[in-house]
Amino acid sequence: MAELKYLSGFGSELSSEDPRRPGALPVGRNTPQRCAYGLYAEQISGSAFTAPRHDNRRTWFYRIRPSVVHKPFKRLDVAKYLTHKWDEQEPDPNQSRWLPFDLPASPVDFVGGLHTVCGAGDARARHGLAIHVYLCNKSMDNSAFYSSDGDFLIVPQQGTLTITTEFGVMEVAPNEIAVIQLGMRFAVAVDGPSRGYILEVFDGHFKLPDLGPIGANGLANPRDFLTPVAKYHDEDNINFTIVSKYQGALFAAQQRHSPFDVVAWHGNYVPYKYNLANFMVINSVSFDHCDPSIFTVLTCPSTKPGVAIADFVIFPPRWSVQEDTFRPPYYHRNCMSEFMGLILGAYEAKEGGFRPGGASLHSMMTPHGPDAQCFNAASKAELKPQKIALGTQAFMFESSLSMAITKWGAETCQKLDAKYYECWQELPKLFSDKIEI
Ligand code: FE2
Repeated sequence: MAELKYLSGFGSELSSEDPRRPGALPVGRNTPQRCAYGLYAEQISGSAFTAPRHDNRRTWFYRIRPSVVHKPFKRLDVAKYLTHKWDEQEPDPNQSRWLPFDLPASPVDFVGGLHTVCGAGDARARHGLAIHVYLCNKSMDNSAFYSSDGDFLIVPQQGTLTITTEFGVMEVAPNEIAVIQLGMRFAVAVDGPSRGYILEVFDGHFKLPDLGPIGANGLANPRDFLTPVAKYHDEDNINFTIVSKYQGALFAAQQRHSPFDVVAWHGNYVPYKYNLANFMVINSVSFDHCDPSIFTVLTCPSTKPGVAIADFVIFPPRWSVQEDTFRPPYYHRNCMSEFMGLILGAYEAKEGGFRPGGASLHSMMTPHGPDAQCFNAASKAELKPQKIALGTQAFMFESSLSMAITKWGAETCQKLDAKYYECWQELPKLFSDKIEI
């Protein structure tokens, strides 16, 4: 069982020491002349050295060998559908929906199973995002992965992931999420066929949204985020592969030891996990349908106030009590791109077609909303207090960038549902010369 501790707020100073080596963590300085137990000190910086204090992120590792002990990186020929090439396809403004993505028929690990569905921007310019799915059935074996391009927000849909990091180990099951930030090395073990979604942001790091008039509590509370505790592997004379995602391509370097050799660490740049069941839902208790921003778990802000590179938003089980109101999501067009996935259950605005392990994309200013069946039912429903989305967890990656679908997403995966548009075609004309219908 993975040991975890509370993150106690984003940006808090944390420390952890493997109990097998008490005193490994230096006191009073980051780089003693000689570290205890013959360890090396190494810093990982997640922000510019000169970033303001509230945004400054770094962690010190005390490890058996520094990360630099590896052979040169060479191009790695796996995950051929992992890409940052946003011009593979002609632009397509249509509503897109994917049936559940296929699990692999032959052994594939987490890295080999990365497939990019859509994205925008440029990791070289540190601006943009990529949305991937992972489709795998095999644990990573003597290999570790890191992204030099962005933070990975991982949303398992099927299968529990055991994620070994330089900081320690996290188990992440469906209805939980993990965030592995830029540069952090990790390996994924699976318990069977595994599928999930990844939001990778190139600009910066995920944060908790501000709460404004909501007050000090609500949505995702800081106290519910967990980070691993130090647990080192002292393995020599092994063939270990470090895989780097760098400018959208994969590279591999060989080394003869485990990179999970951190005996102690301290800092405020850490991986973390969160159970979506702990989300405190805020909603209208009078009338109307709130904007989905009330369900934001984490946000990666842009430099424009209130505008996100990407928000991670969920639609959890909750009470619906609004009166004299059309309760489902309203019809709309948005200056943001909305990628949705379904972890489990059935999403209330579209009970058919949008299935666990599938996805949808409603691009910039592309109209969307409830299907005809949902509209007809909700327009006539008796509006008594009702629990909705029971046994369901849908989510949205919402971005201010206009995303392109990859060739894999549009064609190769063969899961794009060409009939998606039909769900709105039966919406009736209800217009009448009578004010009440
Ligand atoms: Fe929408």
